[in-house]
Amino acid sequence: PVLVVDYGAQYAQLIARRVREAQVYSEVVPHDTPVAEIAARNPAAIVLSGGPSSVYADGAPQVDPELFNAGIPVFGICYGFQAMTAALGGTVEHTGTREYGRTEVSISGDGGRLHNDLPGHHPVWMSHGDSVSKAPEGFQVTAGTKDTPVAAFESVERRFAGVQYHPEVVHSPHGQEVLRRFLHEIAGIRPQWTTSSIVDDTITALREQIGDRRAICGLSGGVDSAVAAALVQRAVGEQLTCVFVDHGLLRAGERAQVERDFVAATGVRLVTIDAVDRFLAALAGVTDPEEKRKIIGREFIRVFEQAARDLQAEAGAAGEQIDFLVQGTLYPDVVESGGGSGAANIKSHHNVGGLPDDLQFSLVEPLRALFKDEVRRVGLELGLPETIVHRQPFPGPGLGIRIIGEVTAGRLETLRAADAIAREELTAAGLDRDIWQCPVVLLADVRSVGVQGDGRTYGHPVVLRPVSSEDAMTADWTRLPYDVLEQISTRITNEVSDVNRVTLDVTSKPPGTIEWE
Ligand code: XMP
Repeated sequence: PVLVVDYGAQYAQLIARRVREAQVYSEVVPHDTPVAEIAARNPAAIVLSGGPSSVYADGAPQVDPELFNAGIPVFGICYGFQAMTAALGGTVEHTGTREYGRTEVSISGDGGRLHNDLPGHHPVWMSHGDSVSKAPEGFQVTAGTKDTPVAAFESVERRFAGVQYHPEVVHSPHGQEVLRRFLHEIAGIRPQWTTSSIVDDTITALREQIGDRRAICGLSGGVDSAVAAALVQRAVGEQLTCVFVDHGLLRAGERAQVERDFVAATGVRLVTIDAVDRFLAALAGVTDPEEKRKIIGREFIRVFEQAARDLQAEAGAAGEQIDFLVQGTLYPDVVESGGGSGAANIKSHHNVGGLPDDLQFSLVEPLRALFKDEVRRVGLELGLPETIVHRQPFPGPGLGIRIIGEVTAGRLETLRAADAIAREELTAAGLDRDIWQCPVVLLADVRSVGVQGDGRTYGHPVVLRPVSSEDAMTADWTRLPYDVLEQISTRITNEVSDVNRVTLDVTSKPPGTIEWE
């Protein structure tokens, strides 16, 4: 792999994704990983990421100079560029000039391997206080800015290079090309990380892991569990059984979609458990959001465990135990839980509430090395329909946390109808890919007066919550076109009895979360 050394900025994972976009497999490692450990992994190259603003700051992570004696190609970015400079005998100065945001770089000389043929002046994204004033001995300086004469350097012979700017962000339009040139041309790595190679390698590994034994997978209807299941199905076919729990908190058509589209695309053996009454009974009289979430999580696990036991019992007679549980854990989950070290980390709210630790299965996690966009591409490669692969996020507790107040069958029906209209209209307007998601929330304990037909009504408001986001950690409310909002509002108030008012949530996250509960 190419190892991206993480100096604690938010850029390391993004860099790893960009390296993979250049069709080279990469992983993130913490900056305190010993050089011997890095070398033992036999990396094709190392990328030093951005990080704190000054190499001279107290406690700033240093680069062990031994890293440069291991014969491994190294690319330094921002802080990594400065740390590399300091370790190789160049000069980093605290000049007092800072560059933040969009900056213009000028190519120096022939631009070297990384920058030749690029426009002589082009924009890049900068974020630094200190600057390199002198490149290390033997390095060619290939770009500079008004305030930073040394903004890029390289030594093709030693297979080292670096840039002061952030090539990984979209605001550096030539950044990806520069990174690609380092990987392919300076480090000499062949681009082999493609969707079809990911699929082939994963299937081989799955066959090795599972052998002729049996596996079970809980489908949520979301992208990750669907792609994980499809991979395992491709690898071991009939040895996989999928379980889909219908908790009654799903949106219109969701269960049918999984049963129809997913099975049609994969031929997987699917067991659907109808647990609607059980969930509604458990939620009766409950209004507190956390209590709802806990109940839904607990009931989900009980139903899933029961399904697993039933399958075991059936299989037991035939002498075939179910040994494996398939999970859709992604690479960012592994990195964020300090992982990669081999320990299984199950994100606690991975599905609904997470699965219990004492579930007697070994884990199969075919997406453990992948980012979300790679998962989507794998899904398409496996023939999953767009309706599954580009599905917007939907919370495990479902509509249960979008009814403000007690969850009842009638209220679910109302919300489901309103939600279906909003989704239909957003799809019709071609906006699905522009928004992250658009929850519809039923204010079941609020009533408002309206006039519909010729009479007074006393119904409930619904809230539209369209948001735009990269990762759901932060979000902005989406400025939907007025005509689309009008169409949604008119249809909901006309077609959904009990709803006589449609309101728009114009709160970003923070301070609001995306869901209302
Ligand atoms: P919040 O409301 O925390 O939501 O801003 C962030 C994103 O996570 C989704 N979400 C969940 N997903 N289980 C899930 O699988 C949950 O319990 C859960 N709660 C929120 C939410 O839809 C949004 O995309």
